[in-house]
Amino acid sequence: MTETYKALLGVRDDSGYRVEFQQLSSEQLGDGDVEVAVEYSTVNYKDGLAMSDAIPIVQKPSLILGIDMAGTVVKSESSRFQVGDKVLMNGYGASETHNGGYTERLRISSDYLLKVPEAFTTRHAMLLGTAGYTAMLSLLRLEQLGISSESGEVLVTGASGGVGSVSIMLLAGLGYTVAASTGRLEESDYLKSLGANSVIDRRELSEAGEMMQAPRWAAAVDSCGSHTLANVIAQLHYNGAVAACGLAQGLDLPGNMMPFALRNVALLGVDSVHAPMALRERAWQRLAESVDLNKLEAMAVEIDFDNLPDAAGQILQGKIRGRAVVNIAAR
Ligand SMILES: NC(=O)c1ccc[n+]([C@@H]2O[C@H](COP(=O)([O-])OP(=O)(O)OC[C@H]3O[C@@H](n4cnc5c(N)ncnc54)[C@H](OP(=O)(O)O)[C@@H]3O)[C@@H](O)[C@H]2O)c1
Repeated sequence: MTETYKALLGVRDDSGYRVEFQQLSSEQLGDGDVEVAVEYSTVNYKDGLAMSDAIPIVQKPSLILGIDMAGTVVKSESSRFQVGDKVLMNGYGASETHNGGYTERLRISSDYLLKVPEAFTTRHAMLLGTAGYTAMLSLLRLEQLGISSESGEVLVTGASGGVGSVSIMLLAGLGYTVAASTGRLEESDYLKSLGANSVIDRRELSEAGEMMQAPRWAAAVDSCGSHTLANVIAQLHYNGAVAACGLAQGLDLPGNMMPFALRNVALLGVDSVHAPMALRERAWQRLAESVDLNKLEAMAVEIDFDNLPDAAGQILQGKIRGRAVVNIAAR
């Protein structure tokens, strides 16, 4: 009997958009010089968007969803990877223009793959996933500008989410004084266990604010956008910087020029999807050196492969705390 592999696909046709499980044969796995037995994947905010089509992510009539995966190479025509290698993939257009990680078997171009750092298992790699890797890209952006633990207090918004939780852990591990902004004040103990020194109510930041506000933060990692980002910019110290990586509150940026012209602040973009390979390798190496594996496990929520479609609404409604990991191989 022909072997088939379970996968979760986004399908767009004349009847609209739907998400469905399919059993794919080897011939249906598409092109690529490497085949991976997927062990773990994750649920990121963008996976929620892709599964719900709240913002259209899937750009082909039919694609395997999931922007992340980690697993073991089972076939390789690439000189970079051997059978048995542990590999991971983040973004690079997965579930947008080519197949992603919600599948038992992925055939993919080796251009999109990295080796899992030795310090990590495939589960660790997916506990971090795109959210954790983006938290590290945000930290690297701040460091590029000379921000350090000596600079002053750093704010993390969307603190209970994936990017937020990992950012707190990383910054606190490096000795930063970290303030966490959250809509879930009941998670204050959780945020402090990751290393936050203080917790603020996100409502302090989520409404339209003054053009210039009392300086509070040397730097910030913002995964919310909209008024939150505008207020964070207005509250940065002289020479402060914010790494702006997300849009959980909104796509808009209703701010003004004053903090840039009068406080020399910097607004730093962060893109995980098309980040070049050298930067990805650097980010994952730094993660391997910096992550506290106990804290990483403490932020984990397990999602069953079968229940993935339900997780879309949960993450878009801000109901998932920390990082959601999907054990694909457990079936
Ligand atoms: N630039 C990139 O390459 C890149 C990469 C990864 C992620 N992202 C973006 O970063 C954001 C976070 O991703 P994630 O995977 O960490 O998502 P997540 O786990 O859902 O975290 C987002 C957090 O934002 C907060 N939040 C939700 N709705 C909000 C609202 N209306 N106003 C203010 N805060 C709100 C919530 O934290 P609290 O409950 O603590 O308030 C939520 O947990 C998303 O927008 C995602 O698309 C971008």
